[in-house]
Amino acid sequence: MKPVVVTGATGAVGRYVAHGLGSAGRLLVRDAGRAAALGLPGRVLVGDYREPEGLRRAFEGAGAVFAVTNNPLRPADDENIVAAARAAGVGHVVKVSWLGVADPGADDLVARWNREAEERLRASGLLWTVLRLRSPMSNALGWAAGVRAEGVVRALGGDAATAAVDPRDVAEVAVAAVRDPAAHAGRVYGLTGPVALSARQQTAELAAVLGRPLRFEELSEEQALAGWRRKLPEPVAQALLAAARRRADGAAASVLPTVAEVTGRAPGTFRGWAERCRGSFV
Ligand SMILES: NC(=O)c1ccc[n+]([C@@H]2O[C@H](COP(=O)([O-])OP(=O)(O)OC[C@H]3O[C@@H](n4cnc5c(N)ncnc54)[C@H](OP(=O)(O)O)[C@@H]3O)[C@@H](O)[C@H]2O)c1
Repeated sequence: MKPVVVTGATGAVGRYVAHGLGSAGRLLVRDAGRAAALGLPGRVLVGDYREPEGLRRAFEGAGAVFAVTNNPLRPADDENIVAAARAAGVGHVVKVSWLGVADPGADDLVARWNREAEERLRASGLLWTVLRLRSPMSNALGWAAGVRAEGVVRALGGDAATAAVDPRDVAEVAVAAVRDPAAHAGRVYGLTGPVALSARQQTAELAAVLGRPLRFEELSEEQALAGWRRKLPEPVAQALLAAARRRADGAAASVLPTVAEVTGRAPGTFRGWAERCRGSFV
């Protein structure tokens, strides 16, 4: 098997892709120290989506690229990855996207950014596979500081059901796709967990795993926006608010069979994810 470039290898999904590929992985990271601290297998290369020439060198001789970008204000990151894959002669790009793309009611910045990136990849002439996630369970890591310090989870839309997916399942589908492009190229996979849970229900699951009570506090839209604005540019904060409103209307509740169809096993539960990530909450 030719090497597979894993972008975002230090991220929630990419680290599992790296583990799934083992020595076949070529990990593109910004900080080699982070990759070492995570104990990732594979060869580590330092690079940045903003540096096209470095990307092309990293992609040289690779059979496939696993692509994760996370800045909706920088569509050039995806453009650079696709251009580097073409220039380096990489056969297949497996790209992480978002299920909101398929929601005709979703017209926020993040939905448009993902739609355009998917379209660019499909038009590139490369083989492609698109993995559209529901929100990853790892979003709950954003609660870790409040859980550790106060035993409190604060969120907007605490009753909105979301079929969040285990990042490890996304990675397993990605590894299956890069290993067998004949079976998976040209496919768009919608990836969810096995059941839709609300943030309130996830809090109860987390409390059971931690063996202590946790309190859920509903945020107002104004409070949630203020929190996002502290960390993110205004257009991204507004996009998160738009997505939260759609979730409250049930837009993220559907459960899809794809993880089981591709991997041959049931998708992971939030309880299982929380047990694996328990250390972040204590
Ligand atoms: N959050 C959601 O609700 C949601 C929902 C659906 C889909 N998604 C999609 O899911 C994906 C998130 O995957 P994830 O959870 O694995 O991501 P993540 O944990 O946020 O990690 C992002 C990765 O990208 C790397 N990265 C960021 N900017 C970079 C740059 N300029 N050059 C090189 N590397 C860069 C980061 O490296 P560093 O370690 O150096 O920062 C990190 O490894 C994104 O594509 C997102 O759009 C998210």
